[in-house]
Amino acid sequence: MTRNTLLTLLSLLLMTALSAPLISGFAQEPGDRTVGEKAQEPGGPDEHDETVLAKNMETVKKGMRRLRRGLKDQEQLPAALPLILSMQEAAHLCKVEIPAMTAGVEGEEAKATFVKEYRLGMIKLQGQLLDLETAVLNGDVAAAQKIFGGLKDAQEAGHEKFTEE
Ligand code: HEM
Repeated sequence: MTRNTLLTLLSLLLMTALSAPLISGFAQEPGDRTVGEKAQEPGGPDEHDETVLAKNMETVKKGMRRLRRGLKDQEQLPAALPLILSMQEAAHLCKVEIPAMTAGVEGEEAKATFVKEYRLGMIKLQGQLLDLETAVLNGDVAAAQKIFGGLKDAQEAGHEKFTEE
């Protein structure tokens, strides 16, 4: 082997060794993320699988938790207003969704009735939230507390009928 051939072979070997990590770095396995896609967060899938309905119900729940101690006297009432508005918004977003349980209801007609009844239940909840806003604006603590109690009943009745919990 001439000196020149040996040098050529050596440089070829060196180039291959240097480019290997680059090549494997660009290789895509099936199911890899595409460019710009976010990596899945640890323990993520459950979080990402949560329905729009459940996510917005969580907002209503947070509001309820904060209102529990926020409707006790007149001075507290103004701070309750933005909370009630966020609950109203969330309730609207829930209302236009379809409960996951609908999939298990047999027959098209029964499914349609189930969704309609869910929607009517959510409209009732929206009405209660508007009544709560009215009571708070009027500084009516007693009325606000009564409506708050009604919201808890609505949650119980709604979940009894439309969830599998
Ligand atoms: C103050 C009233 C309410 C609160 C605080 C509330 C809270 C919640 C919460 C926290 C969840 C999520 C549960 C989970 O995924 O573990 C949920 C789910 C659900 N709620 Fe409510 N809820 C209320 C009223 C209602 C009403 C009135 C209805 C029906 C008319 C209803 C129907 C549902 C349904 C169908 C789900 C399951 C989500 C899905 O199907 O994707 N909720 N709710």
